[in-house]
Amino acid sequence: MIGNVAGNHISVGITGVGFYAPEKVLTNTDLEAMVDTSDEWITTRTGIRERRVASTEQAASDLALPAARQALEQAGTAAEDLDLVIVATATPDMLFPATAAILADELGAKRAAAYDLLAGCTGFVYALAQAYGALATGLSKQALVVGTEALSKITNWEDRATCILFGDGAGAAVVAPVPGGGILGFELGADGSGGPDLCVPAGGSRRPIDADAIEEEAQFIKMNGAEVFRFATRVMVSSAEELLDACGASVEDVDLYVPHQANKRIIDHAVKDLGLDPGKVLLNIDRYGNTSSASIPIGLAEAQADGLLKEGTRVLMSAVGAGLTWGSVYMTWATTG
Ligand code: ACO
Repeated sequence: MIGNVAGNHISVGITGVGFYAPEKVLTNTDLEAMVDTSDEWITTRTGIRERRVASTEQAASDLALPAARQALEQAGTAAEDLDLVIVATATPDMLFPATAAILADELGAKRAAAYDLLAGCTGFVYALAQAYGALATGLSKQALVVGTEALSKITNWEDRATCILFGDGAGAAVVAPVPGGGILGFELGADGSGGPDLCVPAGGSRRPIDADAIEEEAQFIKMNGAEVFRFATRVMVSSAEELLDACGASVEDVDLYVPHQANKRIIDHAVKDLGLDPGKVLLNIDRYGNTSSASIPIGLAEAQADGLLKEGTRVLMSAVGAGLTWGSVYMTWATTG
């Protein structure tokens, strides 16, 4: 789906952002001791130098809590004033209850509807679109959108093709009405035929985790890296181009590009094909790896902390992930001022 929402009766923006990354740092050198790989291979093929890993006790909601508190504080919003909490995650605390309900309770968001959304690494963009829709229709007055992942818990630490890529972390955004500007449009899509290229085969109703599944290591992430790479380089470009076109904007209008951090080579491809100025690209994959649905909100929170998000800054975000899914959002940064 695609929409230019700039003409709607209400302007909706992100009024606060926050992020959290677990303390434990796992470097490429650490990985050299675990699987047959090298710092040089990982750095040149992915751009990743280190990633964060959650502790045994930390689940997705534990990572989300400090990120959400930071976002609420920045927005000047009390948790009781939220009426919607959406958590995008592929690594919920458990199948149910929803991680969003656990988080809302911990925050004290007693008036909020709360649910999880599963769209792989595109989850944050999908969740932002849902929050936008709820605000634009008057259903919600103020929402919290979170991307949080404890991917280390579903990573096969003996599979060098996947374990070097992923990291844990969380990012959060408060979504609320703004005087002008804010979200200008979305482009979202999915191609389920590519599902098997990036999946966790066991743990759902298709295949519960039993002794056979464990024997086959089917409870861990399986990935056809080359196919995902091809798909990602294509849709990161087409999604952004179609969205900018729908918004009557061109790539020169973009002040800051916050792409999902899957692989620096995927980002470089997209930047080159889009014709974007590399100086406008937010990159933090070297420090966090691929944190899936958390990657864009972590990027936004870091951009905010670095003073890159000012009133009027035009931001393009694009993601691609399991599903396979993709999505882009274009917005003018605006605060409640
Ligand atoms: N260390 C050393 N060698 C390795 C490693 C490793 N960690 N992993 C694979 N190799 C070897 C392979 O065995 C292969 O050896 P061979 O030529 O002797 O057979 C060689 O390196 C090349 O392997 P490729 O898979 O062709 O390497 P490629 O350059 O495609 O990079 C990678 C692999 C990084 C996974 C890449 O395909 C990729 O990034 N794909 C996108 C996947 C992705 O980003 N997924 C994230 C989740 S989804 C999302 O966020 C979009």
